[in-house]
Amino acid sequence: MNFQQSPSFSGQRVSGVQSGLSKNLFRLEDVSIRFGSIQALSNVKLSIESGEVIFLTGASGAGKTTLLRVLSGDIKPDSGKVSIPSPKRCFISKVFQDLRLEMNKTCEQNLWAAYDTSIYENKKEFKKDLEELASVLGFDNRLDLKVKDANGGLKQKVAIARALLAKPDVFIADEPTASLDSGNARRLFEILNIYNVRKGMTVIWASHNKELVKNFSGRIIHLDNGKLIYTGHACFI
Ligand SMILES: Nc1ncnc2c1ncn2[C@@H]1O[C@H](COP(=O)(O)OP(=O)(O)O)[C@@H](O)[C@H]1O
Ligand SMILES: [Mg+2]
Repeated sequence: MNFQQSPSFSGQRVSGVQSGLSKNLFRLEDVSIRFGSIQALSNVKLSIESGEVIFLTGASGAGKTTLLRVLSGDIKPDSGKVSIPSPKRCFISKVFQDLRLEMNKTCEQNLWAAYDTSIYENKKEFKKDLEELASVLGFDNRLDLKVKDANGGLKQKVAIARALLAKPDVFIADEPTASLDSGNARRLFEILNIYNVRKGMTVIWASHNKELVKNFSGRIIHLDNGKLIYTGHACFI
């Protein structure tokens, strides 16, 4: 990616993570979750530090979404211990597969949901970031389109842009590239890396797309049948 085309980030979220209060953000000890007869997670041990980029991999049904829901604080384990950062100290933006967009509003109106006077000095500053992000994600010419008329890829980009405009400390995304072609998926990956490098944003995303892993420079966490079977760098997968 051409860095001149990358987001320039005007506003800044002031949080405990940015000021370096907590390095070890997430810690899971022997976490297990069952849904009826299905063991979705089995004795998962894991810690994630502030500033890491994590790529959660595994086949469909391996437990990726369940693990992201635990990290987001949406579900509690049946057994084991979960330590996640306090919302007062650490802002987590999530993009799950339901996207939670307002269908009757335009793409731009959906992005304005991220506007927060505590992180942007004024609307002009937000609008600048909004336009820049829409441009690098390649949908600046469709900002006026109603979301109900957008295709799956555009909906996914709008949800991701809205999550990033909130300037989170942690970005959690479940299969964010599912509706994107490989060029767009790579571009998104580059944008997340830039946010990580420039803003210290911790990135945790899940994907079953093995092709993406090959070009990935962060840490892989690989699940198989609810068990964490590998954590380390991509070249060993
Ligand atoms: N709410 C739920 N109710 C029942 N079964 C579930 C629920 N959520 C997940 N599961 C099951 O748990 C297993 C792990 O699911 P999931 O975490 O969604 O895997 P992945 O995201 O890797 O595809 C699957 O067998 C899935 O069917
Ligand atoms: Mg899933």
